[in-house]
Amino acid sequence: MIDEVAQAPMNGEGDGRPRPERSPANGKDGAGPPLEARGLHRTYRGVAGPELHILRGVDFTLDWAEAVAIVGASGSGKSTLLHLLGALDRPSAGSVRVGGTDIATLSDEEAARLRNKRIGFVFQFHHLLRDFTAQENVMVPALIRGDSPEAARSRATALLGQVGLGGRLGHKPRQLSGGEQQRVAVARALVNEPYILLADEPTGDLDTDTSRDVQDILFEMKERHGVALAVVTHNRELASKAERVLRLREGVLDNV
Ligand SMILES: Nc1ncnc2c1ncn2[C@@H]1O[C@H](COP(=O)(O)OP(=O)(O)OP(=O)(O)O)[C@@H](O)[C@H]1O
Ligand SMILES: [Mg+2]
Repeated sequence: MIDEVAQAPMNGEGDGRPRPERSPANGKDGAGPPLEARGLHRTYRGVAGPELHILRGVDFTLDWAEAVAIVGASGSGKSTLLHLLGALDRPSAGSVRVGGTDIATLSDEEAARLRNKRIGFVFQFHHLLRDFTAQENVMVPALIRGDSPEAARSRATALLGQVGLGGRLGHKPRQLSGGEQQRVAVARALVNEPYILLADEPTGDLDTDTSRDVQDILFEMKERHGVALAVVTHNRELASKAERVLRLREGVLDNV
């Protein structure tokens, strides 16, 4: 499995240094924004009832290095949308382009490779590997990409330092607080220097103060790494830190 998704490092990326704002003009995949969705529909087959038509024509563009918050009632389809934007799921109709590549043209393995290199995910629950240390957890996407263990370890160490966990490299998830676990998840999401960071309720499981800390880290790291951020949240404070806020309602996205 690791071999299937292994790939050579791209474009000399991966040295962990802060980089200037990225755009197609400075040598990336080609024309267009890092993420662009057009006319997205997603229906779920009804289990015991009628078909559910959750997304009904969503258009969404994420620009280089911008931050967008997506809000909406519980059940409105925010996670469904984020899964489509992150190529974790495929739309019933419509298109998603990541760095100009239409994910409909990719096999599942190619989509996995694209996710590994271009997209970082942070979920409400950290999804860290429980038997791995913080450092090893952050290294995993880099190893999958095909980086050497030395390069992966050194980048993981740098990122964990940046999120304030330089003193917790050898801690396993159960030895970390909830906020620390989310910091590790943020570091892991950035280890392959993606274009895009997708976060689904990244502070949903945290108390107010810890939530604020994780919000700050998320935005600090977004700036530092020049990555575009789309964050789904019920948290008004978090949403207000984004440059744009969009609301998902009745299957479509609108400006707030
Ligand atoms: N795999 C699935 N099969 C069938 N229905 C699903 C599936 N996934 C989600 N749904 C339905 O789609 C709707 C949207 O779900 P989704 O998880 O995207 O909502 P959400 O906006 O993220 O909600 P929350 O704020 O509570 O996380 C819900 O009504 C849910 O029951
Ligand atoms: Mg959700």
